[in-house]
Amino acid sequence: MKKMNKSRNYKIAVIGGDGTGPEVVREALKVLAASSKKNGYKLDLTPFDFGGERFLKTGKVLSDKEMAGLKKFDAILLGAVGHPDVKPGILEKGLLLKARFGLEQYINLRPVKLYPGVWTPLKDKGPQDIDFVVVRENNEGLYVGEGSFKNKGKKNEVATQISRNTRKGVERCIRYAFELTRKRNKRKKLTLCGKTNVLTYAMDLWWRVFQEVAKEYPDVTADYAHVDATCMWMVKNPEWFDVIVTDNMFGDIITDLGAMIQGGMGIAAGGNINPEGVSMFEPIGGSAPKYTGKNVINPLAAICAGGMMMDSLGETKAAEEIEKAVMSVTQNKLKSLAAGKMGYSTTQVGDLVVKTLSSL
Ligand code: IPM
Ligand code: MN
Repeated sequence: MKKMNKSRNYKIAVIGGDGTGPEVVREALKVLAASSKKNGYKLDLTPFDFGGERFLKTGKVLSDKEMAGLKKFDAILLGAVGHPDVKPGILEKGLLLKARFGLEQYINLRPVKLYPGVWTPLKDKGPQDIDFVVVRENNEGLYVGEGSFKNKGKKNEVATQISRNTRKGVERCIRYAFELTRKRNKRKKLTLCGKTNVLTYAMDLWWRVFQEVAKEYPDVTADYAHVDATCMWMVKNPEWFDVIVTDNMFGDIITDLGAMIQGGMGIAAGGNINPEGVSMFEPIGGSAPKYTGKNVINPLAAICAGGMMMDSLGETKAAEEIEKAVMSVTQNKLKSLAAGKMGYSTTQVGDLVVKTLSSL
């Protein structure tokens, strides 16, 4: 965690991106403007037009020079990437993954918290049961893109995809998770989510490093679950979890499950964190092209991402207030978190959060 910068003037790169990205980011910025006024910090915003539209016009996704430019910011707020006219993979790889890897955002932090008044598909579970954080490794594993085809297109074709796990990468992720578990100070339990019974190389490394680092955190219970069992428990007994640490691919999968039990993509936010560098915060829901420009998409995930960003910059009070305001809006105002069913428009939800925040 970076310390609050003395001037409390934060340089933020804003990438609205594709589809509904710009709409939800606008609401997040509205809330951050109110928060900065209330708390006395300043945001110096620089917009970037990276995304599908620009790619279609120029063929450019994110150049190395632009990547280097992003390093000068204190943080990045991202709306969404994904455009219906761009082949899947181009923007994801060229923008999102490029930034994650290039800025060494080695943690993907995903809180799974059911806010009051929010519907969950889990029967008989409430906000007291669903409150954990997934720490997903964000720079390695199957996402490194290593692999090959042999005899491509032939009957005897073989495709391999390698999961690359370095001790350094695994250790810094596990260490971050232990620190977070201690800092959260809730159940003080960290669950390693793996598959040691099958992935006898990759997960063996995770398992060994986890045991080693656990010795330095005697106050934290070091727990283990296979990824399939983790999915089962997330649905059956989510209250068992406090912090889950896992590799890139498993983390990708279980955090979508997490988003569903916390009320859906309308509320799910995430951070791509480089604890020593530039982090990037995003609603994890994607660009939702069919809702674009209709003023119906839920901006709360983007607003929560803005809150997480302020927390990472050391503005803890501001972050807590934003979360409180969102919780009050879910509890007292919104009929649903789904696009078009909130009982309010996108801009109205942003206004509601601002109003609540100002009255705190
Ligand atoms: C996520 C997304 C990305 C991922 C995609 C868009 C590449 O699903 O942030 O979870 O797989 O990491
Ligand atoms: Mn995902």
